[in-house]
Amino acid sequence: MNAGVGIELETAENPLRQGSVTLRAAEPCTFVVFGASGDLAHRKLLPALLQLSRERLLHPKTAVVGFARREMTDDQFRSEVGAAARERGVPDAEWRRFAENLFYRAGVFENGGDYAGLRSLLDELEKKRGVPGNRIYYMAVPPAALPAIFDNLGKQKLADPKEGAWTRVVVEKPFGRDLASARALNAMIHECFDERQVFRIDHYLGKETVQNILILRLANGIFEPLWNNRWVDHVQITVAETIGIEGRAGYYEQAGVLRDMLQNHLTQLLTMTAMEPPARFDADSVRDEKSKVLRSMAPHTPEEVARNTVRGQYAAGSVAGESARGYREEPAVAPGSTTETFMAIRLEIDNWRWAGTPFYLRSGKRLGKRATEIAIVYRRPPHALFRSMGYDQPIDSNVLRLRIQPDEGTSFSFGAKAPGWEMRIQPVRMDFNYLTSFGAEPPDAYERLLLDCNLGDSTLFAREDEVELAWERVDAVANAWQETGQPPLLPYPAGSFGPPESDGLLARDGRRWLRV
Ligand code: BG6
Repeated sequence: MNAGVGIELETAENPLRQGSVTLRAAEPCTFVVFGASGDLAHRKLLPALLQLSRERLLHPKTAVVGFARREMTDDQFRSEVGAAARERGVPDAEWRRFAENLFYRAGVFENGGDYAGLRSLLDELEKKRGVPGNRIYYMAVPPAALPAIFDNLGKQKLADPKEGAWTRVVVEKPFGRDLASARALNAMIHECFDERQVFRIDHYLGKETVQNILILRLANGIFEPLWNNRWVDHVQITVAETIGIEGRAGYYEQAGVLRDMLQNHLTQLLTMTAMEPPARFDADSVRDEKSKVLRSMAPHTPEEVARNTVRGQYAAGSVAGESARGYREEPAVAPGSTTETFMAIRLEIDNWRWAGTPFYLRSGKRLGKRATEIAIVYRRPPHALFRSMGYDQPIDSNVLRLRIQPDEGTSFSFGAKAPGWEMRIQPVRMDFNYLTSFGAEPPDAYERLLLDCNLGDSTLFAREDEVELAWERVDAVANAWQETGQPPLLPYPAGSFGPPESDGLLARDGRRWLRV
């Protein structure tokens, strides 16, 4: 998140968009994209860099250099990226402005000589463009490629900043597959980069609505006093997807929803929701508070895992009126696979703010609806006053819903008297919707994160301790599942909301999942 002086963003006529936002000017740098011919680079990174260039948020001398195995000239690389840009309707003049700063170098990640070639290209570009040598190395590569790349960056002196310049490295998820591998990866990275240079990306943190969790809590006087176990009965966090594994069986079979979603995205939503207000709004203060939340959650024992988690795997069914095959029928999935595609977990945060207020998290693929939402469910009124007037129905809890996607926004539900002579209390909602209020779609998460990295702001990136604390808790669940087989893996039909046992997790506490 950026604060400071420099470029003024335009303000539109919409009164909610008034009040100018200021961003620090980005310094010139070279983005070096490892794995530039791959899917992530083409779908996310290069379009995000192009968009930042269109919005004049990158320094005009900033360059992008693709580095990957496939032999290609600069022009071939440009025409591949350009074809996709034209399909998205990027005007020619804007594309050309970006393309002038786009370069490509073929290289094998294991081959030291290819890095020497990369280094001379970078030196030459920096000299020609009169820029100091600031570099961002972006790892858009499978985890198995990282050791060779870090080894060579170190050996070829590409990691060390030049005089008066900086180097940074962005690492994509999955960041390891358990605590031991995450630690080994951190150690390997730290052989050539110190923690301040490392930007571990979790694209959920780049989503405008995830950042808004802190704005809602801390830029308004009313919510924070009500953000604790005194008022909040429990919290529900749902990340529901309708898609299946989209041809990614090779990766997903090893990951499952626990490693693919809970270790990172849901944990980020949890810590942003549960953290204490930081002393300052800077990277370390914010991340200190997020780590403290994780430290306040003891890893589950196997008995707690059996009792407090539910895991499922989608069977054939139908999603949005279309029939969907089961997970085990997906291409390249083992017919007897025991990988979970759904999980729900009940967590307790043992600190002054949250003791006694459970957090229920769930996520799954091939569910009935795509929705990411955090629901703060308030305690019911202590006294049933209206019973004396003949109203004997239970009164619904007030719920504050933070809608992360789609239909980004926030709503608050409360009881109102339904019109008429009889006493009837009905829940109604106050709604804020991003699109209607601001008249604009939020920027893509990658744009925000790439710009923050260029600005040297790591607030929205995961720190080493945060990642390791999350893995420690995830390992406790993964190991218990594997060693005890409890709770069992349950099938659920595609298009449902997971196995019914997921409802049982809340029903046991006298609660239920809210409809998303
Ligand atoms: C990715 C996971 O990190 O996040 C995918 O690997 C998942 O399995 C995706 O579908 C969800 O992201 P979003 O932004 O679509 O909610």
